[in-house]
Amino acid sequence: RVVGEVSTRPEGNENPELPSGAIEVLVTSYDVLSTSEALPFPIDGHTDVGEERRLRYRYLDLRSAAGPGAALRTRSKVTNAARRVMERHDFLEIETPYLTRSTPEGARDFLVPVRLQPGSWYALPQSPQLFKQLLMVAGMERYYQFARCFRDEDFRADRQPEFTQLDVELSFCEQDDILALGEDLLSTIWREVLDVEIPTPFPRMTYDDAMRRYGSDKPDVRFGLELADLTALFAKTDFKVFQSEHVGAVLVPGGATDYTRKQFDAWQEWSKSRGGKGVAYVQVGADGIPAGGIAKFLREDELRGLVAATDAKPGDAVFFQSGPKRQTLEALGALRVAVAKDRGLIPEGRWEFLWVTDAPMFEATDDGGWTAVHHPFTRPRKADEAGLVDAPGEALAIAYDVVLNGSEIGGGSLRIHERDLQEKVFGVLGLSAEEAQSKFGFLLEAFKYGPPPHGGIAFGWDRILQHITGTESIRDVIAFPKTASGGDPLTGAPTPITTAQRREAGIDKQPASASSASSTGPTGAAPPNRPAAETRPDTERN
Ligand code: AMO
Repeated sequence: RVVGEVSTRPEGNENPELPSGAIEVLVTSYDVLSTSEALPFPIDGHTDVGEERRLRYRYLDLRSAAGPGAALRTRSKVTNAARRVMERHDFLEIETPYLTRSTPEGARDFLVPVRLQPGSWYALPQSPQLFKQLLMVAGMERYYQFARCFRDEDFRADRQPEFTQLDVELSFCEQDDILALGEDLLSTIWREVLDVEIPTPFPRMTYDDAMRRYGSDKPDVRFGLELADLTALFAKTDFKVFQSEHVGAVLVPGGATDYTRKQFDAWQEWSKSRGGKGVAYVQVGADGIPAGGIAKFLREDELRGLVAATDAKPGDAVFFQSGPKRQTLEALGALRVAVAKDRGLIPEGRWEFLWVTDAPMFEATDDGGWTAVHHPFTRPRKADEAGLVDAPGEALAIAYDVVLNGSEIGGGSLRIHERDLQEKVFGVLGLSAEEAQSKFGFLLEAFKYGPPPHGGIAFGWDRILQHITGTESIRDVIAFPKTASGGDPLTGAPTPITTAQRREAGIDKQPASASSASSTGPTGAAPPNRPAAETRPDTERN
């Protein structure tokens, strides 16, 4: 603490590098309020310090004017702007429990032992999905919450085991009401925080179109390079590799001119490192005819056909993938993004918001059954169609994801509120009446009492902040994040527990019996936690 007189610096002594460089203080008295040891790294300009070390001293890293400290300041502004939008639309902010039963988002649960009921466990919620639906039955027609969600799944650059959603549910609504709310929310935030005007309504694309044109359910539409479907062209080909369910291609502008043999080889390695079989290619010569790569295996009509289908010009290369349809489209989708990055085709400073609608209701499982693409309470587009049961693979959901520059920043759906329809969906998912009762009995019971039609959405708050602050890693927008190996270098969590703690928490106790265990719901449901085999830890949604 300094007491003194502020005056301008004598001419020639100014320091334009410092914010206070034009002034000085003539000190009359001072106190040292607190002392500091030598810092483990300099606060500003420490780009060469490893992330583990910065997370170990996160409180010092956050002191920096730039980086994660600045991101937290922005985060607070964004959250406040969102609250104002939700209040303007008459939503109530309501908190739901963190100690609860398993919720159906398809990841593994984090479990919490319960000392007072040895052998029984809470699950931390993967989302507030079931509670927000109960709030609709309760007549809280418009609900929102900044909810922490817990999912024990594999790490990626845009995932954390605990993350925040802006979670929303409303009654008596159609899909368009929810999309309009999402557009108002996101465009207001972009206007207030970034001073950027995002045109609304956002474009919409069906899931089917997204997969077909971009090989992704979250397409990055900042650049073209749409996929070419060459399946019909190669229907009668002699080239064995292309005798498969799907053949597709990505154009590589200038690839024939610019790529050396070594670079084409590097693309093979790229593919194999992602579990692929490699990347077949041709180079389009000055005469407009493909040569090199696999060209020698193809007939002349096939060569001409592929040039026409991809609109390839002299000097371009064409990359191919073939195999089972879904897998091939996804491989092409990843290839498209990698090519765009490599060729510098992704424009900076563009915000391409997009709704992806009409996702399938179900996805086939390896054992011949079906699993919900969104979650089991999602409403089918054609509710009373027999096709739901006869051809589950073709049923579409009233579900929507909001995508920004190729990343999924939110998703939701209209819900089922009719018992018979819900039973039909459980039936497709292979859930018997007893199993449905044991997992979701409390919700089904609530739905006996006049549930309103309802629907909702959840926005991935950390991911939205990642975009707004332009950070590479989701860790940069969270005050105290976990590392990629799932730990916290600052506190050292997670840690082993002592034998005494283990005993006290009743971790090794078996509950007396499933039906008498006090974790059962009011409907006499069995313990909540699904066996690991039923979870799909590497997917985002159920
Ligand atoms: P969903 O599972 O799609 O939907 O989650 C909504 C959004 O949350 C973000 N997200 C994540 N962010 C960081 N780390 C993670 N591990 C992670 N997982 C998901 C994504 C995603 O779009 N209950 C439904 C919503 C509803 O139907 O209303 C749900 O949770 O941006």
